[in-house]
Amino acid sequence: MLNTAVKAARRAGAIINRASNDLDQLTVRAKRENDFVSEVDHGAEQAIIDTLLTAYPGHAILAEESGVTGESEYQWVIDPLDGTTNFLHGFPQYAISIALLHNGVPTHGVVYDPTRNELFTASRGVGAFLNDRRIRVSKRAKLKESLIGTGFPFRDFSHLDAYLGMFRDLVQKTAGLRRPGSAALDLAWTAAGRTDGFFEIGLNLWDIAAGCLLVTEAGGLVGDLTGEDRHLQSGHVVAGNPKVFVQLLQAIEPHLTLPLKA
Ligand code: IPD
Ligand code: CA
Ligand code: CA
Ligand code: CA
Repeated sequence: MLNTAVKAARRAGAIINRASNDLDQLTVRAKRENDFVSEVDHGAEQAIIDTLLTAYPGHAILAEESGVTGESEYQWVIDPLDGTTNFLHGFPQYAISIALLHNGVPTHGVVYDPTRNELFTASRGVGAFLNDRRIRVSKRAKLKESLIGTGFPFRDFSHLDAYLGMFRDLVQKTAGLRRPGSAALDLAWTAAGRTDGFFEIGLNLWDIAAGCLLVTEAGGLVGDLTGEDRHLQSGHVVAGNPKVFVQLLQAIEPHLTLPLKA
C-alpha cells in the first residue's frame, strides 16, 4: 500500500513540477479570502485518487478539494498540494501529502517535496525514511537552542491573540521560529531533525495525517496544544523530539483559551 501511495505522490509531483514552469498560465480561484485553489491542485488530486482507486477500488477517500468518497475501513487522506500559496508565488516550499488510515488509525504516510525530489515515508511500527534512508528527530535537549517551525493564522483569526501570545514567548525562548508554509513538510522536517519542533493551530486532517506519523515513527511526540492525543480531531498540533515537545507545551500553556484546550 505504501508503494501505491508513493507512485501516486510522484505522479502528482510531476504535474506540479510541470505547472511550476508556467505559473502565469494558471487559473486560480479563491475558495474564501486567502484560500486559493488552482487547476494544479485539482489535477494532482485526480491523479492521486485514480492511482489509489485503480489499485484499491474498495477503499474510501478524503481529499481536500473533492471531499469524501466511498466507505471502507481503509481511508486515504489526501492533500494534493500543501502550500498552495507558496506554489502560486513560485516560493519553492510545498508538498503532496497522502496518508492511509485503517479504522481511523494512520498506518502509512507519504510527504513528497517535488522541488527537491525528497520523499518522506513512514509506516506504523516500521520507522520513518527520507529517500529510503532512516530518519530520526533531533537530539537537541533545550528549547532555547531549538529551531521551531510554525504556521501563522492566515484565514481564521479567532485564535490570533492566543497565537501571538505563544509567538511572543517563543521568539524569546527558542533559537528561532520559521514559517515555511506547508504544514505537511513542516512535520516531515521535524521528523528529519531539521527543526526540533513544530506547532500550529487549526489545521485539517489532510495537512497533518501523514506528517504526524512521520514524526512519531522518527521517535518524536505529537499531541494537541495540551499534549493530548487529540490533534487529528482538533487540528491543533504540537510536535517535537521528546524533550522539546514537553518544553514547547510548557511555553504554550499560559496562552491557552478554553476552546484551544478542548
Ligand atoms: C496550508 C498549509 C499552511 C498552513 C495552512 C494550510 P494548503 O495548506 O499547510 O502551511 O499554515 O493552515 O491550510 O491550503 O496550502 O493545502
Ligand atoms: Ca487549500
Ligand atoms: Ca494543506
Ligand atoms: Ca492543499
